[in-house]
Amino acid sequence: MRLSVIGCGYLGAVHAAAMASIGHDVVGVDVDPRKIDALSRGQAPFFEPDLQDLLTAGIESGRLRFTADIAEASGAAVHFIAVGTPQQSGGDAADLTYVHGSIDALLPHLRPGDIVAGKSTVPVGTAAELAPRIEATGATLVWNPEFLREGWAVQDTIEPDRLVVGVSMNSTAGLPDADGERASEVLRQVYHPAVAAGTPFIVTDLATAELVKVAANAFLATKISFINAMAEIAEVTGADVTQLADAIGHDARIGRRFLGAGIGFGGGCLPKDIRAFSARAEELGRGESVAFLREVDAINMRRRDRAVDLVVDAFGGSVFKKNITVLGAAFKPHSDDIRDSPALDVAVRLHGLGAWVTITDPAALENAQRLHPQLNYVADRDEAIRGADALILVTEWDEYRRELSPEHASTLATGRVVVDGRNGLDASAWRAAGWTYYGMGRP
Ligand code: UDX
Repeated sequence: MRLSVIGCGYLGAVHAAAMASIGHDVVGVDVDPRKIDALSRGQAPFFEPDLQDLLTAGIESGRLRFTADIAEASGAAVHFIAVGTPQQSGGDAADLTYVHGSIDALLPHLRPGDIVAGKSTVPVGTAAELAPRIEATGATLVWNPEFLREGWAVQDTIEPDRLVVGVSMNSTAGLPDADGERASEVLRQVYHPAVAAGTPFIVTDLATAELVKVAANAFLATKISFINAMAEIAEVTGADVTQLADAIGHDARIGRRFLGAGIGFGGGCLPKDIRAFSARAEELGRGESVAFLREVDAINMRRRDRAVDLVVDAFGGSVFKKNITVLGAAFKPHSDDIRDSPALDVAVRLHGLGAWVTITDPAALENAQRLHPQLNYVADRDEAIRGADALILVTEWDEYRRELSPEHASTLATGRVVVDGRNGLDASAWRAAGWTYYGMGRP
């Protein structure tokens, strides 16, 4: 099928490349000529496993191209809207400028029968607001949220857990109307390998599809903040939150995943999505229904303070002129993304307290340096550790969690303080090697 993908950021670039890899003829459109240039040369503009190979293969096959000219989207059967919906500056709500901008630009190129499939995460009600303008051209709007995780984006796009398609409904029968029915069939064809493999394909109304995405992210954020709240209790009682998580995680209804206590969640999705959800719920007069998300956010932010306090307390109340090596800058491993990264935030705060901060990260250094040029960046892990008074692990890359032995670190660092902001290190091994180990929510 001929597909267009409007917006070639994280979501769009991966979606375009993945759709070409399953046999579609795809044009990716973006307003940023630098992004288009890089993608057209087969260069992934960010670190994402397998994306580079998919881009190269797609471009060589002739099934994948990128352009800044939206007129080239014309002729595609399905136009995916994959633009960003960042947090508004000066507020919690989502900024829909790019969604509106992309629809405005696309409208003159739509033909009757085309399908516009929104993938961006939007406040519930956005699709209903956009639909009349799209329908006036004879095209159909559906909402097809994306659940990809950074670091697993290609796999999550080609082999998703589930596919959700929100369509227009027949208001009396509560079933898809004729356009909705046809559009959901077309989307089944788009995702044919996943559908053939038995992936759940859930057809809903537009509002439900929009809500599924924010509800999923709200749940994940809540799960992380729940365990971090338990960490706060553990800290005043001498309990160990990692054992607690293991023990409750054995209950299949709870599950161990996303019960990793530490410095909390960051990235381009969870923080902004829970805030936008709260803001939207308030607009709808249902703020109290998700009031707990404010608490989820607050717990999450407090964990960064806690990590900083642990380092400061380890030095008796001041890190002034202490050499602190920060292991990690990305918001999570297998990513070079530093958007709302708790890791980088902790580093910046320590720097603000007068510490001499050195940051290392296998993928995110360039991005971090661009944002915070005042900090010291060292690519080589061992060089970064040399001479440190303390280490703080903030992104659980294998390079630090598994591959850095305390014995080896002892040959490089001057001090013997290690703060484990992700509870990823073997506490007893570090203690046995003579280090003072501090975990998050651990004795
Ligand atoms: C998330 C959702 O998982 C994905 O479905 C959605 O489409 C986009 O948002 P992503 O932002 O890539 O994906 O990251 P995720 O793997 O969910 O991790 C988010 C943050 O939570 C990271 O900062 C991570 O370090 C943190 N985290 C995760 C924890 O602190 N503890 C955990 O147990 C798990």
